[in-house]
Amino acid sequence: MKRDFLSLSDYSSQEILNLLSLAKQLKLSPWQMSDLLKGKSIALIFQKPSNRTRVSFETGISDLGGNAIYLGPQDLDLGKRESTSDIAQTLSRYIDGIVARVFSHEDIIGLSKSSTVPVINALSDLLHPCQALADLLTVQERFLTFRNIRFAYVGDGNNMVNSLLMACAKVGMSMSVATPKGYDPDPAQLHAARDIAERTGAEIHLTHDPKEAVEGARVVYTDTWVSMGQEEESAERLQDFQGYQVDGDLMSRAAKDAIFMHCLPAHRGQEVSADVIDGPRSVVFDEAENRLHVQKAVMVHLFTFKHQ
Ligand code: CP
Ligand code: NVA
Repeated sequence: MKRDFLSLSDYSSQEILNLLSLAKQLKLSPWQMSDLLKGKSIALIFQKPSNRTRVSFETGISDLGGNAIYLGPQDLDLGKRESTSDIAQTLSRYIDGIVARVFSHEDIIGLSKSSTVPVINALSDLLHPCQALADLLTVQERFLTFRNIRFAYVGDGNNMVNSLLMACAKVGMSMSVATPKGYDPDPAQLHAARDIAERTGAEIHLTHDPKEAVEGARVVYTDTWVSMGQEEESAERLQDFQGYQVDGDLMSRAAKDAIFMHCLPAHRGQEVSADVIDGPRSVVFDEAENRLHVQKAVMVHLFTFKHQ
């Protein structure tokens, strides 16, 4: 039976810790498992632009001996030229796995249901699990533990925070989230994360006050105020997010050893000031690098382990 990587909610806490260990092993010894995907082809369906996700997947597949086939919006426009189900069934006859970046999360679900090969979510409007897994690795490398670390997120209640809520809950890391009114995280994702957090001992705190969220935090995270697909709302969003920029003043309220995180792409002068993202506390390029290592671990997991 195939297994997918659509959401961190589908993986147990132990499985997530195992993926992080495997990613660390692959990071230390990149030549390991270099023929694991030998003879295998993976389709990369991208309905939106990408730097990190596309390049880290293509490089990771090549490192593991496989072949990546990039299919941009000109090649496949899900549901337009042909149905998502027909695309998934066709691709399943040629290739061994699908990595997909889509507008609607329903399209990821549709690809997963109709394909007979593993599907990896490379970002949807609801979730970005590959980034959240890379972010866990980055925090673990810096602090060696998730216990007694408070993770603050300031900004839009978007796909990034939805996945970070689940990631933090799974590893028992407490999280404070500050969003403007009307930009809260997805209620179902929040509910699911709270359920897990109760079991792992993590606390989840929501506020509309960025200062309250970052007070004493060891991690301060933000993301764009205008996600891909929301371009028409730009003017309104830039107005609504005034006061939510992560700048030097906000960072000074965090713990002395706090790090700054951002999934990128970033907009200096909007969600983050240039001095913070380009300053000594910023680990944004470690996060970007860790995408490569965690995604290789996910692929090793999906393509070599037997799933019941
Ligand atoms: N963080 C991230 O997913 O970057 P890209 O949009 O460039 O892939
Ligand atoms: N929230 C952003 C993340 C980009 C990696 C977006 O969806 O555009």
